Amino acid sequence: MTVTALGLPTVSRVTSPAPAAGPLVDTFGRIATDLRVSLTDRCNLRCTYCMPAEGLDWLPGEELLSPAELIRLLRIAVTRLGITNVRFTGGEPLVVKHLEEVVAATAALRPRPEIALTTNGLGLARRAQALVDAGLNRVNVSLDTVDAARFAAITRRDRLDDVIDGLAAAQRAGLGPIKVNAVLDPATGREDVVDLLTFCLEHGYQLRVIEQMPLDAEHHWRRDQVLTADDILSTLRGHFTLTPDTAPRGSAPAQLWRVNGGDATVGVIASVTKAFCAACDRTRLTADGQVRNCLFATSETDLRALLRRGADDAEIEASWRQTMWQKAAGHGINDPDFVQPNRPMSAIGG
Ligand code: 5AD
Ligand code: SF4
Repeated sequence: MTVTALGLPTVSRVTSPAPAAGPLVDTFGRIATDLRVSLTDRCNLRCTYCMPAEGLDWLPGEELLSPAELIRLLRIAVTRLGITNVRFTGGEPLVVKHLEEVVAATAALRPRPEIALTTNGLGLARRAQALVDAGLNRVNVSLDTVDAARFAAITRRDRLDDVIDGLAAAQRAGLGPIKVNAVLDPATGREDVVDLLTFCLEHGYQLRVIEQMPLDAEHHWRRDQVLTADDILSTLRGHFTLTPDTAPRGSAPAQLWRVNGGDATVGVIASVTKAFCAACDRTRLTADGQVRNCLFATSETDLRALLRRGADDAEIEASWRQTMWQKAAGHGINDPDFVQPNRPMSAIGG
């Protein structure tokens, strides 16, 4: 029997039926209340750790959920499966025209879920207010460096100013406290993270640094190249005083540190070196209507097919429950037999 980093056995196959009602639970007793919805696999940046310069073969239009199909699944998730938090991701969710419509429909569900967005910030300056009006509660903006030349090198687009404007607009629109998500470049990340934290402290944004995971489309990820949580913390400690934040962490993946004895915090998400799978509360829906029980799942469940052949809500609910019931104990990144999922991050959603 293999044992994961969690010390839990990996289940190769769960054949028992999922509970038909109650919370969305797996065989380890974890309850999923947080739904990540990827609205598109397209993006207007080309981060080197995510996509090749020429982009990817985008999902064909007819395979994407229509707004009405997506809203139906959101209703099932909230009213039948106990989802309390919905986060829209991509690709880049701001390239989707019906984002405001979907946010508004989500905000109309009861009990009303918390609604968040993970975005690269391009175009956020123009849409922040409309998104707040639609019911958006929080935003995470991805930003890996505040150096314009390095931003252009990492994302292959010269758009740093648009991201900075987007952050400011989001704050003005009342979306604070805003989180900035950073994935560090192995070569320049040690410098970038110091400047990023300085920038975030200045503006009142909360920095969250994420260890890079094996989810790149080109499968170039190498474990020995990842800047680890320990690397990140020791670099930051050369410039700031960090003390552990004592607030309970719950299922939040970031370990939080107070900066220079003040109220500001920085978070480090050690997805690779200190997996937090044991506390995972997530379920995921892709833009083409597949439910995934993990970022690293190697199988998924086709809810779009169910929708399009006229399945009723109860049947869709049961299928979603059975998918989550089969959730593995952990991502297994550190196992010798780890297999990277075929679907890249941009088509799963962060
Ligand atoms: N590992 C960790 N984070 C990633 N992201 C994209 N690819 C990876 C990866 N391989 C991040 C983006 C963004 C969020 C959606 O996921 O930088 O912040
Ligand atoms: Fe786009 Fe996000 Fe991938 Fe960068 S990491 S190319 S912003 S989907």
